[in-house]
Amino acid sequence: MDRPVTYVVAGAGQRGFGYGEWIAAYPERARVLAVAEPRTLQREAFARRHDIPPERAFASWQELAAAPRMADAAIVTTQDSDHVGPAITLADNGYHLMVEKPLAPTEDECVELVRAVTDAGVLFAVCHVLRYRPYSKLLKGLLDDGRIGEVISVQHLEPVGHWHYAHSYVRGNWRRSDTASFMLLAKSGHDIDWLRHIVGRPIERVSSFGSLTHFRRSQQPRGAADRCVDCAVEPDCAYSAPRLYLGRLREGRTGWPVNVITDDVSESGVRAALRDGPYGRCVYACDNDVVDHQVVAMEFGGGVTATFTMTAFTPHADRRTQVFGTGGYLDGTGKQVTVHDFLTGETSVHEVASAGQDAAAGHGGGDAGLLDAFTTAVATGDASHILSGPAESLESHRAVFAAERARLTGTVQPVGPA
Ligand SMILES: NC(=O)c1ccc[n+]([C@@H]2O[C@H](COP(=O)([O-])OP(=O)(O)OC[C@H]3O[C@@H](n4cnc5c(N)ncnc54)[C@H](O)[C@@H]3O)[C@@H](O)[C@H]2O)c1
Repeated sequence: MDRPVTYVVAGAGQRGFGYGEWIAAYPERARVLAVAEPRTLQREAFARRHDIPPERAFASWQELAAAPRMADAAIVTTQDSDHVGPAITLADNGYHLMVEKPLAPTEDECVELVRAVTDAGVLFAVCHVLRYRPYSKLLKGLLDDGRIGEVISVQHLEPVGHWHYAHSYVRGNWRRSDTASFMLLAKSGHDIDWLRHIVGRPIERVSSFGSLTHFRRSQQPRGAADRCVDCAVEPDCAYSAPRLYLGRLREGRTGWPVNVITDDVSESGVRAALRDGPYGRCVYACDNDVVDHQVVAMEFGGGVTATFTMTAFTPHADRRTQVFGTGGYLDGTGKQVTVHDFLTGETSVHEVASAGQDAAAGHGGGDAGLLDAFTTAVATGDASHILSGPAESLESHRAVFAAERARLTGTVQPVGPA
């Protein structure tokens, strides 16, 4: 293809806007020609950013899909429960597809989406962006080179971070499994998918434990109010909303998560959101139900095992992975990978090239890596650039659903159809 790859974006929220920034930074490689977004402010801002004329700025993905195909590919960044409709319809219209994770809130819908997109014969990438991080490439490269021999087992930690957990999973959009997804699907689907990627074998059986222990009414401190702005014990609360959002604002940081709680990121706008909006609620007085800690034990093909821990009760830090092999041990911190060789006794440290300040540098360069790979795949028609294609993505979603079934039923579950 000797012209830029053209995109339409369905859902110009946080993710759609972010992917758009990468595209805007590489106009010789990609352009956005149309947007579908119901919120006027976001739609108009996105349209201005990409010089999209009003006739190609749609109020919904349904309107976009009803129009003739107007670009090579579509990016679906609507909310979790609204991926199946636009993905299937836009694939039927002939758009190559990049779809946010999780594909859908139920296993059946994930299967339906992947089948329909595969039948449509379009290129398809799930936004499992961790696969595309330079760090992942480094770590997987060391494993594939046999630097620790055969991989026998893995221990992986997802430290969500206390304020991030409170923002997204207590007060925010992903706090309830009925309106978004259960925690493992909403957040840790990345990690289960990533473990499948680095181990390079299918996950066959899982078990899991976890619960919502802390962020519930019974844990509310004596004397606390249901809103931080009215609360006498707010100064002593680790989960204070004013400390998080006004603190960021005072440092001049108006991006995520401040711009999630209000479109008006002035001090008065943020104060109004804390007074009236969902993000000003006491973390012990919300309508949240997703778990605040969970472990998953996995058995892969060939008897490889892995344990995974997701917990809210950490600083906001990078994931940590330890891989145990027949010839060595690997410890990854997200920034560097340390390898200890059992035969020589030597320890080598491998640094990850900085993800830099590139547009869509989110997720340690994973967002940019995904767009780079997908744009190349569309430009060349070569699906091998996509690391998160249909079959493996469905498989890792299935492992997540199996783990949640295991947690809820206290059983060991095979991965596959329920
Ligand atoms: N890959 C990742 O690491 C990652 C990170 C965060 C979120 N996500 C996922 O990305 C998706 C979007 O998350 P977000 O944070 O951008 O949410 P968001 O709410 O900021 O964006 C979703 C947008 O879709 C719009 N929308 C609603 N109905 C629509 C319709 N009918 N047509 C077109 N647009 C419509 C909303 O108005 C909103 O602007 C979710 O599925 C989320 O779980 C993935």
